[in-house]
Amino acid sequence: MVELSEKSVQEIHRNIAKYPADQKQAAVMAVLTIVQDETGWLDASAIALVAQILDMPPIAVQEVATFYNMYNTKPIGAFKLSVCTNLPCELSGGLRAALYLKEKLGIDFNETTPCGTFTLVEGECMGACADAPVALVNNKRMCSWLSNDRIDQLLAELSASQGVNQVAHTSEKTPVIQEFNETKEMGNRA
Ligand code: FES
Repeated sequence: MVELSEKSVQEIHRNIAKYPADQKQAAVMAVLTIVQDETGWLDASAIALVAQILDMPPIAVQEVATFYNMYNTKPIGAFKLSVCTNLPCELSGGLRAALYLKEKLGIDFNETTPCGTFTLVEGECMGACADAPVALVNNKRMCSWLSNDRIDQLLAELSASQGVNQVAHTSEKTPVIQEFNETKEMGNRA
């Protein structure tokens, strides 16, 4: 059972009012965002609530929620880091940034650190290709030019805000940066 704050209810009404009364389903993305901001992720009851508010079949709402990767259809950590790995970013270090994040956090894409602080996902182009590599924090904060140092700073800042002393999630898996460098060297030799 999803309970929304008064602020969210008002925000939903404000967005619905942007469209003709018989086309309020046009507000589905905005309403999903507002509900997700309250609940963290969109479970079946959240989808059902949005469907009820907009007079839509739940499956139609579910289709929207699963199409766009800013909607969380599974539980996530406190911070969802969406790293753009589309081609323009990849050519400018997007893959390196993603691998470094994986190694620092000790998780793969679509995984959450055991402490529940970070979830790492692949993002689609965010329209900030010139600032690559880029990542979005919780769909809202854009982080650009992600060198390893900037990633370290970002993780430290986010961890501190959660009361996590240190990003002590270093992986015991094969170091992916090493893996990446070896792959690159093989490519250079080819
Ligand atoms: S390709 Fe990454 S922001 Fe455009």
